[in-house]
Amino acid sequence: MSAAPGKIILFGEHSVVYGRPALAVPVTQVQANVEIKGSSRAGIWIHAPGIDLHAELGSLPQAHPLRATVTSTLIALGVDSVKNIEIDVQSSIPVASGLGSGAAVSVALIRALAEYCSHPINNELTNQLAYETEKLLHGTPSGIDNTVITYASPVYYLKDQPIQTFHVAQPFTIVIGNTGLPAPTKESVGDVRSLWQADPQRWEQIFNKVGEIARSARSAIETGDIPALGPLMNANHTLLQEMTVSCNELDVLVQAALAAGAAGAKLSGGGRGGNMIALADNKNAPVIAGALRLAGARHVIVTQVG
Ligand code: MEV
Repeated sequence: MSAAPGKIILFGEHSVVYGRPALAVPVTQVQANVEIKGSSRAGIWIHAPGIDLHAELGSLPQAHPLRATVTSTLIALGVDSVKNIEIDVQSSIPVASGLGSGAAVSVALIRALAEYCSHPINNELTNQLAYETEKLLHGTPSGIDNTVITYASPVYYLKDQPIQTFHVAQPFTIVIGNTGLPAPTKESVGDVRSLWQADPQRWEQIFNKVGEIARSARSAIETGDIPALGPLMNANHTLLQEMTVSCNELDVLVQAALAAGAAGAKLSGGGRGGNMIALADNKNAPVIAGALRLAGARHVIVTQVG
């Protein structure tokens, strides 16, 4: 059995696609698990009950993320053919919520295949293969989701740069609220691209501001200045609203968290649905979680960073 965690982006989504830094951390309360067993029936069978999929690999379109991941992994491992197996995909990560469910399934699947074929696989190759599948899912991903999930540690991410982790000097609490609306990441990333193409000067400036926020947040986290993170989250959310990737449901949850005492709050991930995050302390996390549920959150997770 292989597992991979979910993730949240703390700062810098969308502008990370344009080379600005972003900070992401794993969320271990939710995970994807993949188990592979030999079978008496012919073929490679995939069962993913969460998306109601039970199919033989060859019957799926070639660009289907699960088929593409199996094929590219077997090629990368130099395995000619694997016959008669059952692949069981289970995930407690809500689909299309901004918690990286697609990338987590890819990473767990790649590792499970490597284990089943008795071929050791390192994080670098796992990450590369998962990135290829992310491209099928999201068009032009920055690679942040597959990276934080593969390495399962806090990541300061710059596109096309070697991976950098960051140190959390003092642990802090984040409350994650899910709107229950699927986050159309491919669409929101595409719309931000259209805005940028129409007025590159304006959008480069906005991406610069977000990049500056992410850099300040990293140094606050590394020096244990947790109170500084709240205003940075609020400023990042305002810029995401300007990018048109927030929505009424996310804004309602952000406001509810702030009214319940969160030091800062913002959407997390692709936006227009999916998740928001709020900065809590040990005492007010349950109050914020309750306020989010009252304001309509479908799913609330309290997680500790560091
Ligand atoms: C999605 O989790 C994060 C985005 O920045 C897209 C990406 O980086 O690929 C919206």
